[in-house]
Parts: sequence; structure tokens; C-alpha cells
Amino acid sequence: MPEPASPTPPPTPPAAAADAADAVAVPTIVILGAGAVGIAFGSALLLKPGVARVVFIGRPHVGAALAAHGLHGCRGVDQPAVRIPPDRYAVYTCVADFEAAEPGVVPAAAVLSTKRLATAKLVPDVAHWGARVPIVTMQNGIMMDKDIHALMPEARVALAMCPFNVVAVAPGDYRPMSAGHWTLDASEAGRLLARLLGANDVAATVCRDMGPVMNGKLIVNLHNAVSALSGLEMKDEYGQRWTRVLIAQCYAEAMAVYRAHHMKYTTSFPVPLWLLRYLLLLPNVLFRPLWALVARAVPGARSSMYDDFQHKRQTEIDYFQGAIIQLAEKKGIDVPVCRRLYAAVKYYEAQRLGIVRRTPETLFAPVEAS
Ligand SMILES: NC(=O)c1ccc[n+]([C@@H]2O[C@H](COP(=O)([O-])OP(=O)(O)OC[C@H]3O[C@@H](n4cnc5c(N)ncnc54)[C@H](OP(=O)(O)O)[C@@H]3O)[C@@H](O)[C@H]2O)c1
Repeated sequence: MPEPASPTPPPTPPAAAADAADAVAVPTIVILGAGAVGIAFGSALLLKPGVARVVFIGRPHVGAALAAHGLHGCRGVDQPAVRIPPDRYAVYTCVADFEAAEPGVVPAAAVLSTKRLATAKLVPDVAHWGARVPIVTMQNGIMMDKDIHALMPEARVALAMCPFNVVAVAPGDYRPMSAGHWTLDASEAGRLLARLLGANDVAATVCRDMGPVMNGKLIVNLHNAVSALSGLEMKDEYGQRWTRVLIAQCYAEAMAVYRAHHMKYTTSFPVPLWLLRYLLLLPNVLFRPLWALVARAVPGARSSMYDDFQHKRQTEIDYFQGAIIQLAEKKGIDVPVCRRLYAAVKYYEAQRLGIVRRTPETLFAPVEAS
């Protein structure tokens, strides 16, 4: 059962937090990149006392928000938020500060939850951990394990997947906004994290072959570009036919590319992706109620690329449509819609305009005239 909310206690100093962890001898899990997914995952490990201790490595503004407003966790899209007592976690701005404050603490796992572009900066900070601490990547796209191994050849890398949208509804309060279970591979670290989630009454799936899961997630993630470019949150993005047509065309192109590479894909959605590709083309009156049942996305749900546009950050387009384009090139396959969206994201990303509502006409014309 969720714990009742309690008034904000003062932040716990790191040393006291380390003492608390030693006293109860629970595993320490490090979150490398405390943002939407990292905080949602880390807090899900902390809903009950005595299950895990979490060390968040994040930007100073994240630590300040958690110190001021406390940390909240949640078991799923329809579940209430639970306030996490501060003696269950610590926040540092870099790995070196964690190691200096808590010497001798060997994390049971480190969860990499930055955007893909940040991997090259953050992984070298933990390279000295070698194979002692498994790195579990929660990042989207494919071949993220290769990125890590390129920087840290001896790393024990595990794959995990966050199948739902996570949005900050308030400082320190990151909520799942659509349906799905945390999915982890069947490695020792994946099983440990799934057990810790289970001990917190959080649903988790352990999967022996993450390849098809990640390939399927990449197909679903192709909607990110459409949401960022159209300036529409998920409810309106999937509520309009022109945006759904673009998404369906991306699905079709990705599926053709996967077929050529003999790459399998799967999804935890109740509807298989090959069928969803056609359902997306239905008129609004038929699609909207169906989508409400399948995705259970709540108002405010939006893609991480929408967030990137909003905050004028570089996006992960190279790992979404960019990955499909690269695979297509290897087989000489044309993927015009993925290319068009890729070019448009690059064009507007460079302009750093924030979120702008666009129609099909206002979206593509400036890109193609440039
Ligand atoms: N958001 C979602 O709903 C969702 C769902 C499923 C999967 N994903 C995937 O999960 C991954 C993370 O996405 P996200 O939306 O959680 O990203 P996010 O909100 O941007 O969180 C990542 C955080 O890590 C920080 N960071 C980066 N490098 C760091 C460093 N060296 N030291 C400390 N902090 C650092 C970032 O700060 P800066 O911004 O300052 O770099 C940011 O605050 C992505 O691959 C995404 O595609 C996201």
C-alpha cells in the first residue's frame, strides 16, 4: 500500500545517508543522470523502507529541487504519488563527489538514464569501476550497449526499458503518464533490479531477449519527432489524423528496414505494432477511444523530444529516425518520411524556438525552402 504523505523533512547530509545505508545493509543503486526516467526509476526502488538505497547523480538544479520539495515516487500511471523519506537516498552532482562522501560503498548496479548524447561524458567518470558495477542502461534507441563498451570495454552492460512516458508534474515529482511495466534483461543486475521493484510492489518484467523489445521501442519512439515538431502533447498528437499518418508512415518504413535486416520487434502494448500501424490511419472518431484504452495516456503526457524542444536542448533524433536512416542505407532502402522528419528536427533544433504549434504546411515548408 502507498505510504501516506508526510511534511517535508530537512535534506539528509550525505554521510548520515551512508551510515543509514550501512546500518540496514540494503543494496545501493546509483542513478547516472537524474532526470525524468532516472528519478522515476530510482524513486520506484524506494517506495518501501529497507529495500534499496539510491544515489542520484544529477545537475545542481535537480538536487536543489529534491532538497526543497522532497522526492516522490509512483507505482504506475493510475497510482498516487508516495513521498520518499530523505534518509533513503542521496544526491550528488558528480560521481567523484559520491565516492569522496561515501568511500567504500560499492553500488550493486548503476542505472544510466541520461539522454544518449550524454553517454560519452558520463561513462568515463565510472570507467574505473570496471566490471565490478554493472551498468544498466535505460536509454532509448538501439546499440546503446555498444556506445558504453566503446568507452569502457570491460563494462558489464545490461539493458532495461522504460515503456511509458515520464513527466515532471512538480519539482521532484516525476510521474508515469502512460501504461507499461519497467522491463529489464535477465542478467544478474536486471534480475536484482526487478526484485527490488517487486519488493516495492512495482510491476516489472524480466526479458531474456531484449533485442526485439528495444527494436519495438524504437519504432514507437519515432513519434517523438512528430510530437516535438507539431508542438502537440500526446493526447492531441494521437488525436489528430495528420500526425498519426506521419507516425504510421515512420512505422512502415522502420518495419521494412527491420525486415531487410532480419530484425525482430515486439511491444508490450496490447495491440501488436504491425496492426497499430494500420489502426493509426483510422478516422479520429474510431481511433481516439481505442487509443485511450491502449495507451492510457493521461493529459500532460508528452514525449521526451517535446521536452527537449521546450527546453531548447539537443534532441535524440540521431538515435531515432537517424538510426532507421542508417540501417536503411546499409540495405539501399528509401525511407523518405523518416528523412523528412529528421531534416525538420535538425532544422528547428538548431533554431531553439521552444514549443511551436505547427500544421503540416507550416512545419515542412521552411525546412524544404532552406
Ligand atoms: N522521458 C521519458 O518519458 C522517457 C521514457 C522512456 C525512455 N526515455 C529515454 O530515457 C533516457 C533519458 O531520458 P529522460 O527524458 O529521463 O532525460 P532527462 O530528463 O534529460 O534526464 C537526464 C538528466 O541527466 C542529466 N545529465 C546528463 N549528463 C550528466 C552528467 N554528466 N552529470 C549529471 N547529470 C547529467 C541531464 O542534465 P542536462 O539536461 O543538463 O544534460 C538531465 O537532467 C533517454 O534515452 C530517453 O529517450 C525517456
